[in-house]
Amino acid sequence: MSATASPSALPPVVLVTGAAKRLGRAIALKLAANGWRVAVHYRDSVEEARQTVADCGRLTPGAQAFRSNLGMETAVRNLLPAVVEAMGPVDAVVNCASTFEHDNAATFSFAAMEKHMRSNAGAAILLAQGLHAHLSARQALEPKARGVVVNLLDQKLWNQTPDFVSYTLSKAALDAANSMLALALQPLVRVVGVAPVMGQHQPLLRGEKLAERSASLPSHHQETDLDTTAAVLLALQESSISGTTLLVEEELPQDKPQAPVPAPQPPAAPAGRRHGRR
Ligand SMILES: NC(=O)c1ccc[n+]([C@@H]2O[C@H](COP(=O)([O-])OP(=O)(O)OC[C@H]3O[C@@H](n4cnc5c(N)ncnc54)[C@H](OP(=O)(O)O)[C@@H]3O)[C@@H](O)[C@H]2O)c1
Repeated sequence: MSATASPSALPPVVLVTGAAKRLGRAIALKLAANGWRVAVHYRDSVEEARQTVADCGRLTPGAQAFRSNLGMETAVRNLLPAVVEAMGPVDAVVNCASTFEHDNAATFSFAAMEKHMRSNAGAAILLAQGLHAHLSARQALEPKARGVVVNLLDQKLWNQTPDFVSYTLSKAALDAANSMLALALQPLVRVVGVAPVMGQHQPLLRGEKLAERSASLPSHHQETDLDTTAAVLLALQESSISGTTLLVEEELPQDKPQAPVPAPQPPAAPAGRRHGRR
């Protein structure tokens, strides 16, 4: 789907959850810069959401803010209809909002697991379900209307660490849901995962740590937020992608000397065997 492919006269609409600040805001701005009207979802970050709406609106007019607690099922179910009512047909949802609270094997609890599962996996699934119902309802007047859901996953799924147990479980559930939803919601809705990858042994970089690392990178290097936003845009635009996850890997700084790759050595002959062909 491209930003000009919507059957309506207005630019297409994307709901980005957790879009007031950080990665969600960067995604919202990237999409607005590429012709999407952005529904900026937030929970507590009122002022930041207002700023993101203003900044997105300068790029593609019509952005609006929507407040919702994604831990509450009724609030999640009401979110997409509220966007449709205010902005018209919705074409895409980017599930970026996430609870991210520390726990480990010693402190894990059902309460922590449920909190993460609700906002990080359950809400994303309900919003995908809602988008599919919305697209189904549009078919009578717009038989070519199609939608896409992008789920933000995490490199931790492929590079496990022992902490953030509940958070990681919720992202593992969302990863599984990603494949199931892609099968269940086709052909009306595509479902694509985007997983920021911070390098094999990098801890998750957030807040000050992310800013610190970005500042230390050479100027030609794109920080992870920007790489991730490009992957989200690609997922929205490329109609052949569904049921898979785009891993967004940081480039190594080009001016950092790399260790030489050792030349391949022939395998050692097992003891008692002779070299050469018969
Ligand atoms: N940052 C990284 O290094 C990194 C690495 C790998 C993957 N990711 C993934 O990328 C996405 C964005 O990362 P991030 O670091 O920018 O996220 P974040 O700052 O941890 O959270 C984004 C927003 O989620 C919203 N949120 C949390 N719980 C909510 C709830 N119950 N209801 C509604 N909104 C809720 C908050 O909105 P309010 O502030 O408005 O309350 C928050 O600002 C996440 O899905 C994360 O798992 C990030």
